[in-house]
Amino acid sequence: MHAATLIARKREGQALSTEEIGWLVDGFVRGDVADYQMSAFAMAVFFKGMSAVETAALTMAMMRSGDVFEHPPGPVLVDKHSTGGIGDKVSLILAPLVACAGCRIPMVSGRGLGITGGTLDKLESIPGFRVGIGMDEAAEILADLGVVMMGQTERFCPADKKLYALRDVTGTVPSIALITASIMSKKMAESLDRLVLDVKYGSGAFMKTRELAQELADGMIAVGKEMGVEVSALLNPMNEPTGRAVGNALEVIEAIECLDGKGPEDLRNVVLDLSERIAGISRTELSAMLDDGTARRKFDAMVARQGGSPGDLLHLAEIHKAPVIREVKAPLSGRVLAVDAGLIGQASLELGAGRTKAEDAVDFAVGFDRLVKCGGQVSQGDVIARIHARSDQAANRAEVAFRRAVSFGID
Ligand code: URA
Repeated sequence: MHAATLIARKREGQALSTEEIGWLVDGFVRGDVADYQMSAFAMAVFFKGMSAVETAALTMAMMRSGDVFEHPPGPVLVDKHSTGGIGDKVSLILAPLVACAGCRIPMVSGRGLGITGGTLDKLESIPGFRVGIGMDEAAEILADLGVVMMGQTERFCPADKKLYALRDVTGTVPSIALITASIMSKKMAESLDRLVLDVKYGSGAFMKTRELAQELADGMIAVGKEMGVEVSALLNPMNEPTGRAVGNALEVIEAIECLDGKGPEDLRNVVLDLSERIAGISRTELSAMLDDGTARRKFDAMVARQGGSPGDLLHLAEIHKAPVIREVKAPLSGRVLAVDAGLIGQASLELGAGRTKAEDAVDFAVGFDRLVKCGGQVSQGDVIARIHARSDQAANRAEVAFRRAVSFGID
């Protein structure tokens, strides 16, 4: 086979065979197919797309580029993947909850990049929590607790890591086929029986419209089917942040509230909507496990097993106390019409909660909490958010951004 010929064929809109796609990916990982050739291939896919069969072949080849979980016989293996949003701390609640339902959930998550946060950064705000564990230790924790939450190891889908780095700098990230293969290769390497996708759309999401989110969901469901995994998807709007907190430790605190049967209603609902799809038990039973402390105990056990101390979970607000905590007050009385997730995500990133480059460090303490929710009624002077910042200047900038993000209507 010849890389230039395969690239040219894709450029002309022709379908490639499973063998040809496998050859290209293997060669790329070995270094026989050059970065510039793979970049050209990604651009050809961006313009011409791929069929479900081709996308499944690309997914499979990327999945097989590294280690794949091999689980012993046992309870059903499930997971959830979200395409990313603002204030999205759902994984922290859903993973222990679903494990309480008797499932095994080997959750491999990512870090935040750009305006969307990442589960690994949130977990690392728990002192001592180790996300960088190997496959063997992960397998042991999974066998004992039914849940493990970890990052991608060096040997986990290396083809995706290498290809994503090229896509990032060649304008080829927003291709449905490439996004599908990137996400699904990592999820399929977990060797699951069942997967639920939380596909977000709106101002704070990767996909700006419901139609695009549907197209991505359909692509991922089709690949799951080709690979023999039961995949379902929920489309969820991301026009306002999920819950009332945005920022790493602030989101963990809110997740713990939800695990204690409290917390914002919209957050609890998304957790239950998604958990219901994979857990194999009813919503009522799942709700009871949040309310009676079962899910919280599982979370504490996972924290302890992965190097953290459950006692610290009670003091995260003091452990990560930002030097400036500013209350923002409503300028008038009325109904909240919008709390723009994209603008809040950007403001949170600028406070230091996120990163613009993969190697940047994140600030666990900063962000927003006590955010008002759309549809809520406020009176002039009510607190509509708190800003957690490193300095007064940073808080000033965040306040300007936050006031732009929120709009009111007078009844
Ligand atoms: N998330 C991924 O893991 N890959 C993509 O291509 C886009 C989002």
